[in-house]
Amino acid sequence: MFVKSSADLSPLIDNVFSTVALYKADIAQNGKAGALNGTIGSLCDENGDLVALDSYFDHYSQLSHRQYAAYAAGFAGNPDYLDHLRSWFTQGKVDPEHCRMIATMGGSGAISISMQSFLDRGQTIIIPRLSWESYETMSLTYGYTIDWYENFKDDHFNIDDVLQKVEASLHQQGRALLIINDPAHNPSGYSMDIQEWTTLINGLNQLASLGNILLLNDVAYIDYCTDQNHNHDQMCLFNDLHPNLMVALCVSLSKTATSYGLRLGGVIVIGNQSDYLDEMVLTMKKACRTYWSNPNNSAMINFVWMMDHNQNGFIHEKQQYIDLLKTRSQLFIDQCDAVGLDHYPYRDGFFVTLRFNDNDQRDRLFDACVKQRIYICKVDKGLRVAICSIPTSQLDGLAKRIMELKKSQ
Ligand SMILES: Cc1ncc(COP(=O)(O)O)c(C=O)c1O
Repeated sequence: MFVKSSADLSPLIDNVFSTVALYKADIAQNGKAGALNGTIGSLCDENGDLVALDSYFDHYSQLSHRQYAAYAAGFAGNPDYLDHLRSWFTQGKVDPEHCRMIATMGGSGAISISMQSFLDRGQTIIIPRLSWESYETMSLTYGYTIDWYENFKDDHFNIDDVLQKVEASLHQQGRALLIINDPAHNPSGYSMDIQEWTTLINGLNQLASLGNILLLNDVAYIDYCTDQNHNHDQMCLFNDLHPNLMVALCVSLSKTATSYGLRLGGVIVIGNQSDYLDEMVLTMKKACRTYWSNPNNSAMINFVWMMDHNQNGFIHEKQQYIDLLKTRSQLFIDQCDAVGLDHYPYRDGFFVTLRFNDNDQRDRLFDACVKQRIYICKVDKGLRVAICSIPTSQLDGLAKRIMELKKSQ
């Protein structure tokens, strides 16, 4: 073995990218007409083309070559970007005194440095059973053991299971790292309401007397939820955290600004103990230095410009896609309900996920869909339909087609 002895050499299986590969092979042979691509978690318009917000990219192309070429002001990012990161993503709900910020390469960078700043190799991390598969990949790369929690109980967020897992972790290792992906969970499309948030934070505040807790909330999809006036309400709860409890809000401009390739994101660490906040940020900064050195200077400059000079244009343009997601999700869910196709409880976001009792049943339906040139992604006990990328005209009737395939099994 050439690589380090602890390397995990099992294949890197990414269900999304492997289904995309199937789709691409199909259209290369048979053409695009008649094939449905419901795989990729990127916003596409009604022609099926990738959305790239003009309010963000028009100005980007006007930056100077030197702005593209220059390093950032520091490993943690440019100070004006960090200010805007906090103010945009907390919308004034969290006291700035309780926040520290760091710029990262995408949401993936944010999640990854948050994890590895809090847990040592061999420790346990708590992850939703139905979730973005990169959480698992990152955790295994860092040598963590995973304790999965069940997402739902009676179609509501399963806070009992979450708190039990946190308590067990505190007893076992004196600390707990809990991941949630709220609002607009990938892949279920669930968003917690304020009562659920209050119960969760109250529970974590109580458990924090047993040890340190990091609540990593991946807010990648927060800017595309239906109720933009109340999306941040739960953050008021972060002003009153137990000293041993911290929140790491992990942000992705891939989603917020439809800027997947121009990598940028960030972490807003929130807590009541300034020495703990300083420790976290210093540890994260060293991780940034180690992994990518500097975040993307021109992308930070562009985000700052948009926030200062074109915030209304951004809000307005983004709203069109929030409305489009609403139209598509409503249509698909109504049609699923009409034909009796079961799905996880959806409230917001880019995906609706069909629900199965077991993965064999899911695999059979997946294969049948592929034969009909319907490409959607496998997740645990589910098939994820990326309504973000399927034009409404193609979504219309999809539930019925899938239900017929299911019945014929
Ligand atoms: C749940 C979730 N979190 C975070 C991300 C981060 O994406 P990126 O690293 O491109 O910012 C994604 C991307 O698909 C995601 O689905």
